[in-house]
Formats: sequence, structure tokens, C-alpha cells
Amino acid sequence: MALYEWQRGEYRITTDPAQIDLDVVHGFLTTSYWAWGITRDRVARSIAGSIPFGLFEGDRQVAFARVISDCSTFAWLADVFVLPDARSRGLSVWLVETVLLHPELQGLRRWSLATRDAHSLYARFGFVGLATPERLMELRPGNAEAGGPAPSSAQQGGRLQP
Ligand SMILES: CC(C)(COP(=O)(O)OP(=O)(O)OC[C@H]1O[C@@H](n2cnc3c(N)ncnc32)[C@H](O)[C@@H]1OP(=O)(O)O)[C@@H](O)C(=O)NCCC(=O)NCCS
Repeated sequence: MALYEWQRGEYRITTDPAQIDLDVVHGFLTTSYWAWGITRDRVARSIAGSIPFGLFEGDRQVAFARVISDCSTFAWLADVFVLPDARSRGLSVWLVETVLLHPELQGLRRWSLATRDAHSLYARFGFVGLATPERLMELRPGNAEAGGPAPSSAQQGGRLQP
């Protein structure tokens, strides 16, 4: 797949997996509420199997998202985060906007994601709650090493993102 880059002032988004800072992405995800304890190797494989979006301030990666897609019918948006010291600057809005503009992710039938509390971030792009949740199923093999919900959120509903 072709690699893409977008620039906005001092910020840059790239889909080049070679530029993704695994220390930053693993460091955040392994303490996140949805992938608590995920191993570095599993994060590396998830990036290799996705379209990654790294957002950089100069040389430093400050945000991340990835998309799992067949580039024809569906896409799943996952692992969206902005590092704490770079928040409230509109970076997640720009990141999600950029993801949705990716040239090879146009004309899909469905975009999906899971979130505990960021619904309004995605709602501005047209995401809504499931119209027919009874038609969707999931399988959770229960592999602890896969990374799962943080202990504090475990009673609140389990894992939310792959
Ligand atoms: C959620 C997150 C990505 C927002 O990043 P950010 O760059 O600070 O957000 P932005 O400055 O682009 O603003 C986000 C907008 O979404 C809104 N929003 C909705 N849910 C939010 C949430 N849980 N946290 C922060 N903002 C949220 C904000 O109010 C803001 O809207 P506004 O511009 O009308 O005020 C960031 O707080 C984060 O990484 N949180 C931890 C990881 C996480 O929860 N990721 C989402 C998983 S689905």
C-alpha cells in the first residue's frame, strides 16, 4: 500500500509503519483502559497488520491511531490516543479527520469502533450507536497476554478495542 503524509503547521501525520515509535505506542497502550498489559510484540504485530497513523510534533510522536480494513467494504478504527501533554489542541479531531480522508479508505460500507467515553469525538464525523446491535456478535478468547481492560474498568464492561 502507498504511504501517505499530511502536514499541519509543526504537526505531521504519516502512515509509514517504519516511522511509528513503538516505545510511544506500546508505552501508552499497555496502560490504557482497553489494552492494559498488552505486550510490545503484540503491539508491533498489530501495527504490521494495520494501516497505522502516527502524528508527530517535529520528531516526536504524540498521537496514534490505526485502521484494520479490507479497503473495500469495512474498516475498524482502533487504538486512538494523544499523549497527555499534547491534548486539547484539536489533534485527535485532526487525526480522525485524516483517517477518514485516507485515499484507500473511501467508499466503504461501514466504519466501526469501540469507545468508553469519547463518543462525542466520533459523533462529529457521523459515527452513531449501533442501529441493530442484535445482529452483531463477538468472540473473546480470553488470552491474558493479549492485553485487556484495566483493573479499574474490568467491572464496567470489559475490553472495548482490539
Ligand atoms: C480522547 C483523546 C484522544 C482526545 O484527544 P485530544 O487531542 O486532547 O482531543 P481534541 O483536542 O482533538 O478534542 C477532542 C474533542 O472531542 C471531545 N471529546 C469527546 N470525548 C473525549 C474524551 N474522552 N477525552 C477528550 N476529549 C473528548 C472534546 O471535548 C473535544 O471536543 P471540542 O473540540 O468540541 O471541545 C485523548 O484525550 C486521549 O488520548 N485519551 C486517552 C485515550 C482514549 O480515551 N482514546 C480514545 C479511545 S476510543
